[in-house]
Amino acid sequence: MCGIIGYNGKKQVEPIIIDALTTLEYRGYDSAGMAVTNAKLNRTDVYKCAGRVKDLEKVCESKTIDSTCGIGHTRWATHGGVCDANAHPHSQGNVTVVHNGIIENYKDLIDEFNLEGSLKSETDTEVAAAVLNYYYNETHDPKKAITKAVKRLRGTFALVIMFADIPDVIYSIRNVSPIVATLSEEGAMLASDLTALCRFTDQYFVVPEYTIVELHKDSIAMWTLDGKEMQPEYLTMSWEKNSAEKNGYPFYMEKEIMEQPKAIRDTIAGRTKSGIPNFEADQIPDSLFTECERICVVACGTAMHAGLVFQSLVKTRLNMHIEVELASEFMYSDPVIDEKTLVIAVSQSGETIDTLEALKYARRKGAKSLAIINVKGSSIARESDYVLYTNAGPEIAVASTKAYTTQLSIFYLLVYKMAHIRGIMNDDEVRECIRNLKRVPEVIGSVLDEKNAIHVIARGVLEAKDLFMIGRGLDYSILQEGSLKLKEVSYIHSEAYASGELKHGPIALITDNTPVVAVVTQTRLMSKELSNIREVKSRGAQIALFIKADLMQQSTREFDTFVLPNLPDELMVFPASVALQLLAYYVSSDKGFDVDKPRNLAKVVTVE
Ligand code: M6R
Repeated sequence: MCGIIGYNGKKQVEPIIIDALTTLEYRGYDSAGMAVTNAKLNRTDVYKCAGRVKDLEKVCESKTIDSTCGIGHTRWATHGGVCDANAHPHSQGNVTVVHNGIIENYKDLIDEFNLEGSLKSETDTEVAAAVLNYYYNETHDPKKAITKAVKRLRGTFALVIMFADIPDVIYSIRNVSPIVATLSEEGAMLASDLTALCRFTDQYFVVPEYTIVELHKDSIAMWTLDGKEMQPEYLTMSWEKNSAEKNGYPFYMEKEIMEQPKAIRDTIAGRTKSGIPNFEADQIPDSLFTECERICVVACGTAMHAGLVFQSLVKTRLNMHIEVELASEFMYSDPVIDEKTLVIAVSQSGETIDTLEALKYARRKGAKSLAIINVKGSSIARESDYVLYTNAGPEIAVASTKAYTTQLSIFYLLVYKMAHIRGIMNDDEVRECIRNLKRVPEVIGSVLDEKNAIHVIARGVLEAKDLFMIGRGLDYSILQEGSLKLKEVSYIHSEAYASGELKHGPIALITDNTPVVAVVTQTRLMSKELSNIREVKSRGAQIALFIKADLMQQSTREFDTFVLPNLPDELMVFPASVALQLLAYYVSSDKGFDVDKPRNLAKVVTVE
């Protein structure tokens, strides 16, 4: 959702802001803007418009911007429609702000501070600017003004603030919505997202909540609301410098699909000892896995789908009680949670507010928590008792791909670890599983080598309005993800069904040439699955079959078939998922869509 950048240094700020906002485009937005210090005239100049960062560049083209200090924003509309006036930054009096999050009590503040008539936009953000301005006029002190103002704001916010008469400092404060910052030779910077900083430095810190940050040209200061100075706790980014660039691929989604062998290798690396899963380096005690009696996974979208695979594994391997909950529904569904529950929060960004709130709720109920996260130091990582990072590198495309398969990799390690320490699997059995898990990158590599064959299958569904995906067992778990992938990037209505469920209703939707994607990788379910495929075939369905090599037989050659390289059935989710990702990718790119930025979607979802 909204993106923020702030820079105060020696260089001209306009290109830095434009560049960073372009990097942040993937988060999803509808307007862009910047505010820069105009030191000569002792004022803050604002440039903004509805539209893309390119449109903002055009707005700036005709102006002479000579400034080394400024803030930028990409807005995802929440309060007020998409128009120039509602784009950030917003100014009131001396104060100019950009904001991520939602000020929930903005209507009350309009009444209380008598703002009706003085606001130029419909946004909650401008109200925050007005409240800050009110307290600045009262105190003539930026820190006191910020302290007083944030005590009046309810909701989530990351605010970045400029005062016209303090032209050489940028201020920031946040609650829940993230801000990361860094000091490099280029100057001081902050952003909503690490991807905007990673080309400047690999050192950064997460701004603690309710802490005032001051960005000076060559230093950063931080203060608690009661005036104590704080020192930043720097972290090192494990991402390579150019890892947030496309590197020759037309879209990030393709690049990220192709990166999966490496991402999975990096995620497993260092997490086995003598062939047995080992989380010592992650500082996770075995007791976390031995003392729990039930598991509850909370997550959204793709991350939740990774949880569905884990659910199958836990049932078959551990015979344990497990629930996988949509984080947005979790706390309203009176979940059964106690001290014996291990709650696992899964999130690529680590900032998804639904998942964060679900995790907080579970912890309040006494559950132990483990987070599976891609972005280091993110809010969910910090909220959780323990963290396992997926080492996928930055994922920029809105459609999650490498995050999913790296989350799966962690889940497989977890299941084998738990089966081992609970005495369900012996050393040799676990070692055999880990050996196979380590073959996954190479096997995925051979799917990627055959991507043109999947492209051909994709051409067959380009015109589809509705599409169905069918499978059983683990295949059904991954089809829910495959179906989401296709929906979000190709806008084709797609539904995943457990094949055995078709005859209970959905088969009524199958008519001549209805495309049906079937996945068959589970040996024990194969014959039933093939019967279900024939049921839909005989009603006119056009079948695209993704089948494990060992399960191919003469009769399956009548379909458009992609043969998946062999792994033990339990691990076939990997090659099959990658094949479905490629299918979605090719349908979207052949239709000429902006694959990386599907309509209405944001990469980081920070509103409930
Ligand atoms: O950052 P998270 O993993 O918490 O994000 C969760 C979902 O918003 C995300 O997986 C979403 O469903 C993706 N667009 C799917 O491709």
